[in-house]
Amino acid sequence: MRAYARLTRSLLAPTERSLLKQRVSQLAESRADTVDTQAAELRRIERDLHDGAQARLVSLGMSLGLADDVVERDPEAARELLAEARAATTLALSELRDLVRGIHPPVLADRGLDGAVRALCLASPLPTEVDIDIPGRLPAPVESAAYFAVAESITNVIKHAEASKARVVLRHDGERLSVVVSDDGHGGADENGGTGLRGIQRRLSAFDGTLVVTSPPGGPTVIVMELPCELSSPKTSSS
Ligand SMILES: Nc1ncnc2c1ncn2[C@@H]1O[C@H](COP(=O)(O)OP(=O)(O)OP(=O)(O)O)[C@@H](O)[C@H]1O
Ligand SMILES: [Mg+2]
Repeated sequence: MRAYARLTRSLLAPTERSLLKQRVSQLAESRADTVDTQAAELRRIERDLHDGAQARLVSLGMSLGLADDVVERDPEAARELLAEARAATTLALSELRDLVRGIHPPVLADRGLDGAVRALCLASPLPTEVDIDIPGRLPAPVESAAYFAVAESITNVIKHAEASKARVVLRHDGERLSVVVSDDGHGGADENGGTGLRGIQRRLSAFDGTLVVTSPPGGPTVIVMELPCELSSPKTSSS
């Protein structure tokens, strides 16, 4: 029997080769997703720049050109054009700032993931407990992905869960960051129900990370996200 079991196992159990094959296809899929996501993100940035700052700069150039034409003959009109040009620079600046904020929120750059997540939870209309233990700073793209994942998960709790409280736990065990967002609402979270959870999954898979949703009817909902990453610097030097 034992020999038979061994034989069956050797025939049926996944071999190292088949596991590797599986891993390669997983990686190919996540790479394709990453490329798609990045292409979409690039298109968004391009469009925002085109419709926003670029348009402002074009009108700024025109106002300055016209002012230059009339400055001798009609200084009053020139002054008006200069005021317009100035307003256009203010608008262009604020649009550029908004764009940059969408790429890397300033709160993350200033306070790191820890402070940014605390600020997010403090601003939540729902009582949200925060428990963070990360002994250092993480690479910026990982911080960004984790921050947006927490933001989306908290938004979901507020929008869908009818919960009385939520909890966010962040840990780093030396090899991976784990992010857990849970709530005591009615459950029913579904990755295929919208674009939010799927978006998180895409973002995380770019870093070989995972998202697991546990949300039975009646609740509670627990969203577990894991991201392999190294700490980039000890906390003392970053704060
Ligand atoms: N914490 C939660 N509690 C209960 N249901 C949830 C929770 N989070 C998500 N859901 C359910 O799962 C679905 C999918 O969530 P997802 O974030 O992907 O989409 P969405 O929030 O509906 O839309 P968006 O694309 O704007 O994020 C939601 O429509 C909602 O029904
Ligand atoms: Mg959502």
